[in-house]
Amino acid sequence: MEHPAARAIPGGVLRLGRHNPAYSIQASEPGPPLAVDRREEAEYALPVKLRDSARFSTLCIHAGQTPDPSTGAITVPIYQTSTYVQEGLGRHKGYEYARTQNPTRAALEANLAAIEHGAAGFCFASGMAAIAAVLTLLEAGDHVVVTDNTYGGTYRLFERVLRKGGLDFTYADTSRLDAIAAAIRPNTKLLFLETPTNPTLRLTDLAGASELAHARGVAVAVDNTFASPAIQRPIDFGADLVIHSTTKYLNGHSDSVGGAVIAVQDAHIDWLRFVQNAEGAILSPMDSWLVLRGTKTLPIRMERHNANAMAIAELLAAHPKVARVLYPGLPSHPEHALARRQMRGFGGLVSLDLGSLDRARTLLESVRLIALAESLGGVESLISHPATMTHASVPAERRQALGITDGLVRLSVGIEDLDDLTDDLTAALDRV
Ligand SMILES: Cc1ncc(COP(=O)(O)O)c(C=O)c1O
Repeated sequence: MEHPAARAIPGGVLRLGRHNPAYSIQASEPGPPLAVDRREEAEYALPVKLRDSARFSTLCIHAGQTPDPSTGAITVPIYQTSTYVQEGLGRHKGYEYARTQNPTRAALEANLAAIEHGAAGFCFASGMAAIAAVLTLLEAGDHVVVTDNTYGGTYRLFERVLRKGGLDFTYADTSRLDAIAAAIRPNTKLLFLETPTNPTLRLTDLAGASELAHARGVAVAVDNTFASPAIQRPIDFGADLVIHSTTKYLNGHSDSVGGAVIAVQDAHIDWLRFVQNAEGAILSPMDSWLVLRGTKTLPIRMERHNANAMAIAELLAAHPKVARVLYPGLPSHPEHALARRQMRGFGGLVSLDLGSLDRARTLLESVRLIALAESLGGVESLISHPATMTHASVPAERRQALGITDGLVRLSVGIEDLDDLTDDLTAALDRV
């Protein structure tokens, strides 16, 4: 099977491994190693020797990243160009116009496809643009079952924009398989899952949900933003589509906004490639490069996020001023057993309830090292108030029903020294 990213590289072919779809792009007809003719040099891709058995950390660093064919540069360049010169009518190097194809974006898309165990990846201008692209797989009259605790922006897109186009949505507690089954109707075409959810960190059994959905002819899309492929790879559990806000852990450095969809089925791949070009909400070359740099350190960053968050969750759970701590790694979490089965590490997000808006405000305004800001998944720790920030677009009664109380505070635990984080939190909690 040929990978779109391989297709985008002149002479490149995709070789899928037997046990994972890690691939290497190699010149099908390598030119002479020290070609003097510049044109010839550009016509072959230098081989990247990535074995079929390459493991996750190796894939993160190497997958999709062929040394630059004209210089051998080990880092994929930022191809900051809007068009490509053609040799003659209908004769070009696989690139015609940069909305349609860009080598930096193609490298990132191939990298993300490999690390999520998918067959192809598509990058978009934001996580929301990626979600919107997936929903274009549906038609007016189709119905979607959605995790009730989904990100506020996703809820807004579905309710305020896509309903106008004739799509219908039911929000279900997808931590219960029976609730998913009960919500599926004859016209249901998609199960849209988020696990862990934002900000209450509830989990969905990905294998169970995928089996149940597929038995009813329903495709499964998973927003894997909160976990990242270092923690769980939904395609391994049966999902058809994986979505990311690359703004978060994949980029990891709070300096880029972007989104991605990873797919496995040919029909989805063909449509997403078409719609990415047709709608044009593409990720820029600079942002593609930043995320490509980010995924190289994803495994090691996630290890530290996991360790710091676990320690902070335990500290908060034992703190007399904290009413409730939500973290999949704590035995008190309702899906702790599932988390142990499904996730490798419990992630960097910890939510805590202080019981009232006033107490939450005191904490939010008393931390010094931890920054009060929306977003998550960067190397620096952030603190936020979901009810008035990320979930302000969700109606108040709905927030209450979902457990997004006024006293709920969300921490995106970064990779700073743990002692500095606990010093900051402890001092701030003293003031609550
Ligand atoms: C789980 C989740 N999905 C999607 C998005 C949207 O991503 P973006 O902000 O990159 O559009 C977010 C943003 O916070 C998110 O948390």
